[in-house]
Amino acid sequence: MAPIVTDNIIIRLVSMDDKPVAELIRDTINTAYSSQNSWTREGDTIAGDRATTEMVERLILEQGKPNHLLCAFDGSIVVGTVMVQLEDMKPNEAEIRMVAVHPSYQSCGMGRRLVDASTEFIRSLGRDVMSIRVLENRTDVMQWYVRLGFVATGDRMNVLDESLLKVKGVTFLKLSRSI
Ligand SMILES: CC(C)(COP(=O)(O)OP(=O)(O)OC[C@H]1O[C@@H](n2cnc3c(N)ncnc32)[C@H](O)[C@@H]1OP(=O)(O)O)[C@@H](O)C(=O)NCCC(=O)NCCS
Repeated sequence: MAPIVTDNIIIRLVSMDDKPVAELIRDTINTAYSSQNSWTREGDTIAGDRATTEMVERLILEQGKPNHLLCAFDGSIVVGTVMVQLEDMKPNEAEIRMVAVHPSYQSCGMGRRLVDASTEFIRSLGRDVMSIRVLENRTDVMQWYVRLGFVATGDRMNVLDESLLKVKGVTFLKLSRSI
């Protein structure tokens, strides 16, 4: 994809050149997911870090085989991320994961821009359904996705490691939209 440049922010696929900033990418994801300064966060429901350096480095190394990692950069600052998952998906579908905006950049439309960029990217792959899984107790972010056009499908998925759940019994709900 061609980089999307607005203001000073560039949203683009990461490449091997970004391996030195893997830790910055990890930190942005983990801060967004757990900081009390995020207006919505997963850390209240699931304990532990969302991303590790190894996970980010693997995504960079295996970029496009088949998943993709897009990041938003403000100069050298990693301000946001979105992972496009193609693995284990139907041929016409892609799931977005790790949608994260550093708390200092939230509530300014950055999250929407990341979802828009991933939408364009998924379309460019010839896929026309986009999905997201959201913890069922997170009504604030659920409503945000609904405002972006996502609709609950009724499908539920268990959290991979239920021992990390701070709110017992919570599952993911799948939302999707045609693009
Ligand atoms: C979810 C997240 C990506 C949104 O990023 P963002 O940059 O704040 O998103 P935007 O600025 O595009 O949109 C913010 C919206 O939330 C609304 N909002 C801001 N504060 C809010 C609050 N306290 N409660 C509810 N909505 C709020 C804004 O009004 C805006 O609404 P609009 O899109 O209808 O105008 C970001 O909060 C984040 O990284 N959260 C932690 C990680 C996470 O939970 N990711 C989602 C996993 S499913």
